[in-house]
Amino acid sequence: PLVPMTEFLPQAKAGKYAIGQFNMNNLEFAQAITDAAIAENSPFIFGVSEGALKYMGMEYTVAIAKAAAEKSGLPIALHLDHGSSFDVAMKCIRAGFSSVMFDGSHHTYEDNIRLTKEVVKAAHAMGVSVEGELGTIGGVEDDLSVDEADAKLAKPEEAIRFYEETGVDCLAIAVGTAHGMYKGEVKIHFDIIKEVVAKIPVPVVLHGGSGVPDDMIREAIQSGAGKINVNTENQVACTAAIRDVLGKNDSVIDPRKYLTPARDAMKAVVQEKIRLFGSSNKA
Ligand code: G3H
Ligand code: ZN
Repeated sequence: PLVPMTEFLPQAKAGKYAIGQFNMNNLEFAQAITDAAIAENSPFIFGVSEGALKYMGMEYTVAIAKAAAEKSGLPIALHLDHGSSFDVAMKCIRAGFSSVMFDGSHHTYEDNIRLTKEVVKAAHAMGVSVEGELGTIGGVEDDLSVDEADAKLAKPEEAIRFYEETGVDCLAIAVGTAHGMYKGEVKIHFDIIKEVVAKIPVPVVLHGGSGVPDDMIREAIQSGAGKINVNTENQVACTAAIRDVLGKNDSVIDPRKYLTPARDAMKAVVQEKIRLFGSSNKA
């Protein structure tokens, strides 16, 4: 069955490893992610953005995630990624999501606390875990676009009070990563992660995991990041594989001829990330 993140995040924080959130964009993404996790015997999180949800449809999204959980026997959370309202979160929970993120980072600090609290209260009553967000993460993800200049780092004292007032199960804080592949140099503020993690019992979430050098990911985990999100790297691998097949042969008409290598490429990406995050054999 699908499980809330609380089934595996506390162990990750205690053991200093991270659980990967891999975004599901279609059936092939779901299969690639699940096969990689089966090979590594790792728990994981299917992240589904509002854009991906619109693309796949609620019924297919939940059915695919349930099939993955049943087939693998692994602890899998089906998690709304960057949920923008209480209503979307409730709609997902009613349909079978086991976890939701409420991203109130575009609201004022006090409104973010108030709105996140409402989601936590309702979600926890139904056994569903919640992720909150503080500070703004730069870059583009679906319809969400934040100018690098507007990306605001989280303030540790604010993050700690945010946790205390909302009771979220994990907390995404802006520490310098961005959504999408990096154009410039990556600079992660490990000190912010450490300061926050030391004062709250739940792990910090690192968004924008794509394209971050391995040694920085390791340091982020050592600093206390217990959940790391990856989407763009799978999109890049998927599209490169498809382009390669179609570029070499313009008589291909069977989608399986390019979707099979695309799926293999994504599986390789996810398996490598799971090993890097240290969640192999933690299922
Ligand atoms: O919420 C999803 C992640 O933060 C994805 O970021 O596309 O840079 O890997 P990414
Ligand atoms: Zn994100």
